[in-house]
Amino acid sequence: IKGIRFDPSFPWDECVTVTAADIPGTNCVALIEDDQPLLADGEVRHAMEAVLLVAHADRARAWEALRHVHVEYEPLEAVLTMEQALEGAGPVRPPDNVIKRIDIDRGDVEAAMAGAEVVVEGEYRVPHQEQAYIENQGMVARFEDDGTLLVEGSLQCPYYVQKALVRAFALPEDKVRVVQASTGGGFGGKEEYPSMVAGHAALLARKAGRPVKMVYDRTEDMLATTKRHPAWIRHRTGVTKQGHLVAQDIDVLMDGGAYATLSAVVLSRGALHATGPYECPNVRVRARMVATHTPPNGAFRGFGAPQTLFAAELHWERIAAALKKDALRLRRMNLVRSGSETATGQVLDESVGAREVLESVVRRGHYAEKKKEYARWNRARDKGTWRGIGVSVCHHGAGFTGNGETFLASRAAVALTRKGEIRVLAASTEIGQGTISMFTSLAARTLGVPEEWVTVEKPDTGLVPDSGPTVASRTCMIVGALVERAARRLRERVLEAGERVPSSREEMARLARRLCGKEPELRFEVGYVAPPEIQWVEKTYRGDAYPVYGYGDTVVDLEVDRATFEIRVRRLTAAVDVGRALNRRLVEGQVMGGVTQALGWALLENTEYRAGILQNPQLTNYLIPTSLDTPPLDVAIVEKPYSRGPLGAKGVGELPMDIPAPAVAAAVHDATGLLLTELPILPERILEAL
Ligand code: MOS
Repeated sequence: IKGIRFDPSFPWDECVTVTAADIPGTNCVALIEDDQPLLADGEVRHAMEAVLLVAHADRARAWEALRHVHVEYEPLEAVLTMEQALEGAGPVRPPDNVIKRIDIDRGDVEAAMAGAEVVVEGEYRVPHQEQAYIENQGMVARFEDDGTLLVEGSLQCPYYVQKALVRAFALPEDKVRVVQASTGGGFGGKEEYPSMVAGHAALLARKAGRPVKMVYDRTEDMLATTKRHPAWIRHRTGVTKQGHLVAQDIDVLMDGGAYATLSAVVLSRGALHATGPYECPNVRVRARMVATHTPPNGAFRGFGAPQTLFAAELHWERIAAALKKDALRLRRMNLVRSGSETATGQVLDESVGAREVLESVVRRGHYAEKKKEYARWNRARDKGTWRGIGVSVCHHGAGFTGNGETFLASRAAVALTRKGEIRVLAASTEIGQGTISMFTSLAARTLGVPEEWVTVEKPDTGLVPDSGPTVASRTCMIVGALVERAARRLRERVLEAGERVPSSREEMARLARRLCGKEPELRFEVGYVAPPEIQWVEKTYRGDAYPVYGYGDTVVDLEVDRATFEIRVRRLTAAVDVGRALNRRLVEGQVMGGVTQALGWALLENTEYRAGILQNPQLTNYLIPTSLDTPPLDVAIVEKPYSRGPLGAKGVGELPMDIPAPAVAAAVHDATGLLLTELPILPERILEAL
């Protein structure tokens, strides 16, 4: 940026403008690294980066004001693809464009590969994906009389936003209050970007001395906000003639975009899931996240795992073809079981439902029967379609990776008010997935009171303890366990005071008044304690990568039009092991939503970039599945309780997003004989391949 020029003909006193020079604290969106500025200062690294903000009481006049601002740029070399970034072009990020590198090593891959009876290689590519939450990014910011900055908006993680604002405004924590407004879906898209919008709205509010509301329209949102990381994954796999895995050599490359955001941890989860849920004595994973001059990519349901699992699962089709064996049989031979050891040396000693889930999905999806039936169908000349069936087998680590939960040190509380009401206090947000129902149910069940007595406090940093971000399939397993523990302490106290837990509200209120004394409520707050059996060494990437894993499989049954190559999914069957389903309806809802989102990624959602700018930033030209695109869904729940989860529950949020894409590609392979290794599988891709 060489300069910013304000047209003197515009009456600038009627609006407020803000540039980097107006930031009272550090010019960054604080998260993992401080590399991303709130407002570009001197240099822009991607086309959607904000340089200057305008607020006006009249929206149309704000746009008019913008037309009278001229930013003068000196163009530099643009690095737009992962390949260019890898060659060191630019650089976007000195010295070598690499945001993060992760190596996982087990056994001796070179020796095992040299001795393998068969070696199978394959490359896989997956694209960006837009979260497409219901409402766009939006925030309202204002400064209260005592100088407190109050921000309210659509978000997943109130304390992430608070942390970012504390840095940008150089304010103490108790002078920044962040409140979640009703949020219609996050999918990871409301994990990091809300800090940017909150910062912008607050900068304008500070200068204007008035509340400022900033709401993106859909096009702005799709152009500027984070997407799923595109990835390029290569597999070299050594197997015996029988089909036993002897070595997996996996190379993962992801595009982080212009700033680091959460890319390092997305890469980590991607690398840790890259083998699939299989046992292999020799593993090498080399994973890199590179920077390009495109808007930063970030959190999206699955968080790196759908990318690497697509490659791992579809690769079985190649291995099966090379060995002339059935891909399902090969999976059964290699699938993890209780006692298996993962690539990082984690022994899976509890709650391993992998095999039950696979048998359940194969049975309910009529995999074997349909495979035979469709082979006959496809040989017939009088049919208008080809039919195919595919299976996929996935796992998903619940909770933060490695020592993440220890560093987060989450806290939650349960309180008894003087009126005999039970209050749950946590920063975990309801984003459509059922946090409120789940906390209510856990507190009520643990205390032995009706659910009607329980309320869940609004996530407001001024009112609730920091239970960590609402991400990583952790809200039920980690925060739910805190709520359960706090509720148990309250129950103990109630039982100390009386013989039993009161069964009428009046009786409870009487007891509550006695227990509360002069206080408005009796509160029990508990903090996360790392289970001693979880050992993780970050430096070597060895140990227990996750407390436990969920398992999920799908069978996708589809047909391809022989003339137009359009694909219609006839039926999707899913089975999941989520430990214990606290609420079956909500678990089914999560699975149905997640698998549908994955079908969109596999078959419809096609981001087109030119010069680092998304060319189809509208829901009319970036197509997501509607109810008419959604096939009949059958969901089976397998319960393998996890001793540390609340009532045995693990996570469910992300798992369903991981599974369907490779089953879709396998089903298209079964139907057409074409192995399409790049998503989305559009009719024109089938045409080209034919
Ligand atoms: Mo997430 S993708 O862990 O919000």
